Amino acid sequence: MRKNIVAGNWKMNLNYSDAQRLMYQLLEYKKNNKTNCEVFIAPPSLYLTMAKDLFENGEIAIFAQDVSEHNSGAFTGEISVDMIHSIGINGSLVSHSERRLYHGETDSNANIKIKNLLNKNLTPIYCNGENLEQRKNGDYLEVVGNQTKTALFTLSAEEIKKVIIAYEPVWAIGTGETATADQAQEVHAFIRDLIASKYGKETADEISILYGGSVKPDNAKEIFSKPDVDGGLIGGAALKIDDFSKIIEGFN
Ligand code: PGA
Repeated sequence: MRKNIVAGNWKMNLNYSDAQRLMYQLLEYKKNNKTNCEVFIAPPSLYLTMAKDLFENGEIAIFAQDVSEHNSGAFTGEISVDMIHSIGINGSLVSHSERRLYHGETDSNANIKIKNLLNKNLTPIYCNGENLEQRKNGDYLEVVGNQTKTALFTLSAEEIKKVIIAYEPVWAIGTGETATADQAQEVHAFIRDLIASKYGKETADEISILYGGSVKPDNAKEIFSKPDVDGGLIGGAALKIDDFSKIIEGFN
């Protein structure tokens, strides 16, 4: 079911007390404000239990930032799908561009992680997007198309409907350089058409496609107004309650 979503990716930020403070601020905000979108956060894995306990009524859905593609075993430093499932986490980001860049993650890895999450009834937020060179060369649609096919096209129609996609052009992440609303719309519509060409329009229309890359309070509303943009995956601006809440209000 296609939903409007604002998701905060905290990345490797905030110590315990800062993370706790931000979670309390979010809880307070959700209690006092009716939002026209669903709100997710992806805190560092160390704080997932705290988040789950605090948002016990599901006011905000809690996501991991990554999961291992293995189920268990000698994989030091990793966390498994089964672990996040066992503490009631809603899902995980998959193949964020920083995982691709610093950890060599590929769309084939993403495909395995997505299937493992779906097998446990958890929601994958699959991230893709081109780099600056690919944007400049004009290859970006081909790049995003190939990423999407490799990561998702072995899924059944029922499965792909449960995936959230986050289009995040690498050149716009953490750079202050945002794709224009029209640039985002172009790629989002392309991804949706690609999915429709394999799974049918009805299936493609059910999938939420988020935009990520320097979304801020002053550009969120315009980006979210585009027909194929169903929300945002927010990095830096998710770390301050004032900014994050204004982005959420981009749907008002
Ligand atoms: P940013 O990050 O909003 O800081 O650009 C977005 C992301 O990486 O998900």
